[in-house]
Amino acid sequence: MGTSTLFLKCALFVIVPENIFSYLNRHRIVNDINPIQLDLIADHGTNTIFVQLLFLRETTFHQVRWRNLAFECPCIFFDLTMSCRPFAFHPSIHRTGYLRHKKAYQDPVQLAANIGIKAAGADGVSLQDKVVVVTGANSGLGKEVATYAAAKGAKLYMLCRSEQRAQQAKDEIVKATSNSNIHVVLADVSELSQVKSAVQQIQSAETHVDALVCNAGVLLNDFTKTSEGREVTFVAHLLGGSYLLSQLLLPQLKAAPSGRVVFVTSGGMYNYKLPPWDVVTTADESKYNGVDAYAYAKRGQVLLAERLAETIPEVMWVTVHPGWADTPAVDDAFGDAKKYLKPLRDPWEGAEGVTWLLGADKDTLENGSLYLDRKTQPKHIAGPFFSEGSFTKNTAKDVDEMMEKLKEAAGV
Ligand SMILES: NC(=O)c1ccc[n+]([C@@H]2O[C@H](COP(=O)([O-])OP(=O)(O)OC[C@H]3O[C@@H](n4cnc5c(N)ncnc54)[C@H](OP(=O)(O)O)[C@@H]3O)[C@@H](O)[C@H]2O)c1
Repeated sequence: MGTSTLFLKCALFVIVPENIFSYLNRHRIVNDINPIQLDLIADHGTNTIFVQLLFLRETTFHQVRWRNLAFECPCIFFDLTMSCRPFAFHPSIHRTGYLRHKKAYQDPVQLAANIGIKAAGADGVSLQDKVVVVTGANSGLGKEVATYAAAKGAKLYMLCRSEQRAQQAKDEIVKATSNSNIHVVLADVSELSQVKSAVQQIQSAETHVDALVCNAGVLLNDFTKTSEGREVTFVAHLLGGSYLLSQLLLPQLKAAPSGRVVFVTSGGMYNYKLPPWDVVTTADESKYNGVDAYAYAKRGQVLLAERLAETIPEVMWVTVHPGWADTPAVDDAFGDAKKYLKPLRDPWEGAEGVTWLLGADKDTLENGSLYLDRKTQPKHIAGPFFSEGSFTKNTAKDVDEMMEKLKEAAGV
């Protein structure tokens, strides 16, 4: 989205204290908007009106499940009830955003994951002789990424937790791509011991790993502990599934000519900075909030890639946001509220920007960056008028602490 469009198409929400709102409303200075009307505005209104100024009652603001609304434009919130803290939602994450971005692509783009190197409609990428490891490769985005890697001739490792689901997905991928050089490695990435044994299996067979895609993850509504006593979301997305896995595979990643690690993050992290470690790890179970835990881990992945790009620059470390894509994870996390996320990308449309990172020339990528649809993105948009702001930013000291804690918890 160009800067001019960015500023032209935006919704400004002013959250007004209840008593003041009632006064203004009685005198017909502001209109009342209920949550249902907001759904409609999210779906249609902000797409058609350039700058929309909306006044919200404090009570209405708290009734709305903001994270379930699918705004197609930036939204800035001025909260007059608290401290004028602005929030922002990233634009362009829906299907319409993908289609718009795709039109601007310079390089060819495929319409499906399983198109072979020389088949009609191929994007010209070959991953022959490359070793690609994808976690959570049996479903949704991970399965699309795995299918793409196999179609491009890579030797593929599908790192999955369920033997039955992994085997079924593997059979489907072999059938769709005619590549039988596909290997299932079983591991629940929220269990550190299983991550270690999965890495040992890969290392016993491979001297190099060209690409590692840390994709496995879930958004859980209830607090869940691993058998090792840690909160699942934090370990699956950050500690085990991203940090430990990538650190243990470092020798193989460094041995590849252009080794790269892709952490699949989420736009959910845009409203958060990494909080103190006891909050990231949900030390107090009674304070668990699934959406927050997910967003903290996803912010952690962004900080991790940024830091590893500085400390281990011989490997490419990037995060990628797939946009909102219609996968089983979205069904599980949102249920009926999924309708508010529409129009969703199909799984390939969500995964396509991830797959592009596998084939892109390393020199064209920016180490430590966050990508969406083949382009780098700002990592912070919570400031006024969609600027970076300071609200979601961590200090270098915060990140030092995160790295120390990850190292200590992973035991590496
Ligand atoms: N879909 C979206 O709109 C969206 C948006 C932003 C970010 N993301 C991110 O994209 C990634 C993929 O999600 P998806 O939408 O494709 O969901 P999905 O279809 O549910 O796939 C998730 C995959 O991760 C695996 N997985 C989950 N926890 C695991 C664990 N502890 N150990 C090993 N594997 C595990 C699942 O295995 P099982 O089949 O065994 O459960 C499944 O293969 C996630 O990191 C998610 O946070 C998705």
